[in-house]
Amino acid sequence: MKRPVSRILVINDEKLILKELIKGLNAAAKSLENPLGITFSGVTTAREALQAIQEDGDIQSVLVDDTLYTLKNGEKGSRILQMTALKLVQEITRFRPELDIYILIAQEKEDEVVDALFSETVDGYFYREERDYRGMYRILNAQLQEKARTPFYDQLKNYVLMAKDAWHTPGHSSGDSLRDSPWASDFYQFIGEHIFRADLSVSVPMLDSLMEPSGVIAEAQKIAAKAFGARRTFFATNGTSTANKVIFQTLLAPGEKLLLDRNCHKSVHHGVVLSGAHPIYLNSSVNKKFGVYGPVPKQTLFRAIEEHPDAQALILTSCTYDGFRYDLPPIIEAAHAKGIKVIIDEAWYGFARFHPAFRPTALEAGADYATQSTHKVLSAFSQSSMIHVNDPEFNEHLFRENFNMHTSTSPQYSMIASLDVARKQVVMEGYKLLSRTLELAKEVREQINSTGVFRVLELADLLPDEVKNDNIQLDSTKVTVDISRCGFTVEDLIRELFERYNIQVEKSTFNTLTLLLTIGTTRSKVSRLYDALMRIAREGRAPRRLYQIPELPGFTELKYLPRDAFYCGGEIVPLLDEQERVNDSLKGKICADQITPYPPGIPVLVPGQTITSEVVQYLIGMLRSQKRVEVHGIVYDGYLPCLRLLSEVEEKSLKKLAK
Ligand SMILES: Cc1ncc(COP(=O)(O)O)c(C=O)c1O
Repeated sequence: MKRPVSRILVINDEKLILKELIKGLNAAAKSLENPLGITFSGVTTAREALQAIQEDGDIQSVLVDDTLYTLKNGEKGSRILQMTALKLVQEITRFRPELDIYILIAQEKEDEVVDALFSETVDGYFYREERDYRGMYRILNAQLQEKARTPFYDQLKNYVLMAKDAWHTPGHSSGDSLRDSPWASDFYQFIGEHIFRADLSVSVPMLDSLMEPSGVIAEAQKIAAKAFGARRTFFATNGTSTANKVIFQTLLAPGEKLLLDRNCHKSVHHGVVLSGAHPIYLNSSVNKKFGVYGPVPKQTLFRAIEEHPDAQALILTSCTYDGFRYDLPPIIEAAHAKGIKVIIDEAWYGFARFHPAFRPTALEAGADYATQSTHKVLSAFSQSSMIHVNDPEFNEHLFRENFNMHTSTSPQYSMIASLDVARKQVVMEGYKLLSRTLELAKEVREQINSTGVFRVLELADLLPDEVKNDNIQLDSTKVTVDISRCGFTVEDLIRELFERYNIQVEKSTFNTLTLLLTIGTTRSKVSRLYDALMRIAREGRAPRRLYQIPELPGFTELKYLPRDAFYCGGEIVPLLDEQERVNDSLKGKICADQITPYPPGIPVLVPGQTITSEVVQYLIGMLRSQKRVEVHGIVYDGYLPCLRLLSEVEEKSLKKLAK
């Protein structure tokens, strides 16, 4: 394993003192234990310090002089204030909140310095004149080691190395059931020994319990909360899909209002059914030219908040799958002014805290809850997510009950370990890796555009007109490419990239492809992609006619609570009549299921919603489309596509929602 490098930056305006400090601290680092590869370097001005922090991703901590002066002509007594420690600490924290910050107190009045910094995140103070370099080093090293600790993963590893006899679940018993099997040992070989050895259960008390953490899981969650700027963090082992549902069931009693983007992930819509919430759907903006659904316009959000001050919660996705980031602070402020809790689905944005290009995060913008698919964009196993909580009125008991309701009593421990490690990695080297990812994203853009055929769509191309003035930003690690001039249909292009060039892309619309860059994207991958696109471009094919999927119909009336409608038995009615025309009897009926075509993944109908002929036409259009479109929620009677509808009797038994 590569040895880590950890640089500690010392900022002191007096060159001689700085030299002595660096010398003393480096000598201590050399003579004492130094597993994190700590070295010290120094600068004399705040400007240089901020530049170093920006350019050097290996900087892990900073030691700041309590007041920074510029010495005029090197003369003592003739000095101008550069920056107070307070200001510098604020600037550093704003840029890289994961850094440890220590203050070097040079003056007698240390209480004044400490008081001035009281509200800032300062990790410690040293009195400079003590010149206790070994003591300072010990503290700096211990604090860094604390940050780099992975309590759950370490304990899991320890337990595996202890090689205890397993008289408990899981049944494969550290893989012993598979290892010598003539039928199944290849699975053991392929997946790897340690996956099985580390696959343990709540029967091992030293590994804590995800449902009532008080040991190493609690510790790992606590360190994660600090890293992500949350009051509390919870590890979820069934993805953000579950995380969203847990929060809904905590915040919303049946019948209580939830404001939500219609374009929210399907787990959000399922959460509406489970919690019994009364959803107020907000229409997302749409860029018809590229089939991309964007954020809800700010004005629509402000209006909804004004019209529904009785709503309990608002949920938005930021950033979206396509990389649109809301201007969250004013939206959250408006919601909070009415006492509405704000949940931000950051499934695609778990890395954002660790590079200023992506901030503010939802929590930094004031959100009460943020859910993140750590597995989507950081180094955690699939399904491993985090729920971050900053709600000042957090009801922990209720949350715990709901969390446990959705959590398996046999969570996969490697997933919990992967969350612990993903947190450590992004704290220790996230800034560096994200800086590289941003650089690669820039290169990918330049290379794709240089093909002359493919074109990367930038914010101005992608933003729907309705949100042009909403201060939306684009996460540049999501790269959407216009493919309309390449001579392939999008399906054929995806197949060509996969079969001929071994490239699998993230998603597509009828005329775009989206590529996802993460901290795992390598330069080799970038060059292979460039090579593939350049070769395809040079084929010089004539552009093909691309068929746009029909536009999503507007949201029709929601007549009953989705949960009430969903739990009706319903009746199954075909979409087409005997002459293969739109079945007129569907008009005005109420759907009992959620009907969602993929793409675009936005529900056309939710349980309780009124069916119109426009909606049926749209669904038939989707089902007849040449393209591979899945329509989730359709019931098949043989080959006949049908919808589950409320019967007249069922409708009569339900309470109508107020208009
Ligand atoms: C916006 C959004 N939220 C939530 C989810 C669900 O996340 P997970 O796959 O972690 O369950 C997804 C998944 O694609 C998503 O796109």
